Amino acid sequence: VQADLPVLREIYRSAVHSAGPAAYTPAQVRAWSGFARDAAFAGFVLDVQTYVAERSGSVVGFCGIAEDGHIAALYVDGGRIGQGIGSALLRHALAAHPRPATGRYYAEASRLSLPLFERCGFRRVGSELVERDGETFERLLVEMPAGQ
Ligand SMILES: CC(C)(COP(=O)(O)OP(=O)(O)OC[C@H]1O[C@@H](n2cnc3c(N)ncnc32)[C@H](O)[C@@H]1OP(=O)(O)O)[C@@H](O)C(=O)NCCC(=O)NCCS
Repeated sequence: VQADLPVLREIYRSAVHSAGPAAYTPAQVRAWSGFARDAAFAGFVLDVQTYVAERSGSVVGFCGIAEDGHIAALYVDGGRIGQGIGSALLRHALAAHPRPATGRYYAEASRLSLPLFERCGFRRVGSELVERDGETFERLLVEMPAGQ
């Protein structure tokens, strides 16, 4: 995945720019997508197990999952949103990690990904506020016991 880093940065940026405006302000979209250029983006992808989806030989999405069951990332190229790729990626990552160390899966969903997580069996357990580049974001905490 190391070699795919530039591609994954572009997918992240494109995903946020395409899907973001439906639920976030222009300033929030800029702050969120700016993380694609951040030095910490490499760790965001490489510190967990990251799976990529390919269509016709090109990477079009990625999902990161940690050993403890944390879904660290779920991003689909802007031009490919709404084609079932995000759901397929999440299901693949869950199936590849049948026994997370904490006995559950959990994620900080966006307003955009909440329906997808719920369709995959996650339920909402709370929310939190995070700040990025002066913009505040509400993240929706979701979880699901493993072995469902
Ligand atoms: C959230 C995200 C990853 C979803 O990826 P996706 O590939 O669009 O997800 P899916 O296509 O599987 O599902 C999205 C919608 O498409 C619909 N869909 C699924 N398969 C479909 C298909 N074959 N044909 C048409 N529509 C389909 C689903 O019903 C779903 O609708 P809903 O969520 O409004 O109910 C993507 O929108 C994204 O990258 N968003 C920006 C980043 C983000 O919010 N990431 C989450 C951070 S945790």
